Amino acid sequence: MMNYAVRVADLRVRRGGREVLHGLGFEVPRGRVVGLLGPSGCGKTTLLRAIVGVQAVESGTVEVLGRPAGAKEVRSRVGYATQHPAVYLDLTVRENLRYFGRVIGAPGEDVDRVMGQVGLGSQADQLAGSLSGGQLGRVNLAVALLGAPELVVLDEPTVGLDPVLRQELWALFHRLAEDGVTMIVSSHVMDEAARCQRLVLLRDGRILADETPAELSAQTGTDDLEEAFLRLIGAQEAV
Ligand SMILES: Nc1ncnc2c1ncn2[C@@H]1O[C@H](COP(=O)(O)OP(=O)(O)OP(=O)(O)O)[C@@H](O)[C@H]1O
Ligand SMILES: [Mg+2]
Repeated sequence: MMNYAVRVADLRVRRGGREVLHGLGFEVPRGRVVGLLGPSGCGKTTLLRAIVGVQAVESGTVEVLGRPAGAKEVRSRVGYATQHPAVYLDLTVRENLRYFGRVIGAPGEDVDRVMGQVGLGSQADQLAGSLSGGQLGRVNLAVALLGAPELVVLDEPTVGLDPVLRQELWALFHRLAEDGVTMIVSSHVMDEAARCQRLVLLRDGRILADETPAELSAQTGTDDLEEAFLRLIGAQEAV
């Protein structure tokens, strides 16, 4: 039997009086790097919020690590980095990480570990408010890695980063997955799709595809994943 980190069935979510997720279903096997991709406004953040358990849902089920999303027993086993950095600008990088580490009961040595993982060791004593945008994003990411979570949910963690840093972070995501951590990473940049072991393509609150990059290429007849996405949309609109 497959061991799933996340199982979503028939998920409907309304935001601002409008349905934004229209009955989604998919499963995420443990220990994989899964990309959640789709254009701005398609529902990525909403879906990630539902997985983390902070989104009110209209109907359907979201199961995380074998329990309902947001259940007390799984909360400390899930790390979440929001799309917009949520850290204290008047604290240093180290102080932020110490604070959030204490909140979730992570061991003190985690602070140095996660700063190293995201490459912020030399900014440890700099105020978060004085960091560059990309550095601030990495503090936000580091917070999600505190406490060695089994599932890490990252909402557009590589936005605004240069290619070298992006590559380093993707390498980190894969190392974590090799250690058994399940990584769900959203992006609206299709060239990041090739770096994922599995892709969930979202459009207008519906799943357009849920497969490996190779399967997606084979199905659409192109290795260019941006083009593959457009072809899927074209095929969908033709029916
Ligand atoms: N609080 C809210 N009230 C009303 N509508 C909302 C609210 N939050 C999100 N929405 C709407 O829900 C839809 C999905 O939004 P969501 O933030 O999940 O998209 P996204 O795929 O993450 O987009 P982006 O790539 O721009 O971050 C959008 O149409 C958005 O306008
Ligand atoms: Mg979003």
